[in-house]
Amino acid sequence: MNLIDIAKSRYATKKFDASKRITDELFEQIKGLLRFSPSSTNSQPWHFVIADKPATKKRMSKGTQGAYSANEPKVLDASHVILFCVKTEMSDDYLLHLLENEDKDGRFPNPESKEMVKKVRAFYADLHRKELNDAQSWMEKQVYLNLGTVLLGAGVLGLDAVPIEGVDVDVLDAEFGLTDQGYRAVALVALGYRAEDDFNATLPKSRLAEDEIFTVLK
Ligand SMILES: Cc1cc2nc3c(=O)[nH]c(=O)nc-3n(C[C@H](O)[C@H](O)[C@H](O)COP(=O)(O)O)c2cc1C
Repeated sequence: MNLIDIAKSRYATKKFDASKRITDELFEQIKGLLRFSPSSTNSQPWHFVIADKPATKKRMSKGTQGAYSANEPKVLDASHVILFCVKTEMSDDYLLHLLENEDKDGRFPNPESKEMVKKVRAFYADLHRKELNDAQSWMEKQVYLNLGTVLLGAGVLGLDAVPIEGVDVDVLDAEFGLTDQGYRAVALVALGYRAEDDFNATLPKSRLAEDEIFTVLK
């Protein structure tokens, strides 16, 4: 496996073959990526709503109407659509929940290490909640990191995918009752297999030149 080849061959799929479905086995791997993605202080401030049937994809497509209608066929024709959601609050209860979960998973060889993790996480949570006042944006960054992980992973698995920010998140919040559950919709990722006539599959990649984006310190 050559990672650069995968980074170059994966692309934003503009047209899916509606007749092709991702196997359950492969989608389990995508779920593994969603779950095991890293996040700052292991805060995991996310939730994922998954649609893999015509009726549930139709519900997802309520977010791709009007100005976003170019994205509707992608949602309807993809095999699986994942709605990435972010928590609306990083509460003290949630921090405790994370800590107890890590304890259950065997992360703490002694009470001191548990206390240390509790302190470090509280430090960063308070930095964003109380000093920088950017907790929402901080949590969203973790969600986007997860989204990027899934996009590369999809490429590794030979799946086609497109991230979709062009979606009415308010409509999806209402459709899935996310606000009441303490989440907000952020973006979609549609996954499946490209249609043979997807124009974007054969276009060359365009990226800024290396000397524009890298500074190698000497
Ligand atoms: C966060 C994010 C949101 C995006 N939203 C959309 C979208 O709503 N619709 C779409 O067709 N492509 C969308 N894209 C695809 C980008 O346009 C595409 O990744 C970019 O042009 C680079 O092309 P490539 O992914 O084919 O290499 C999005 C990409 C990202 C990372």
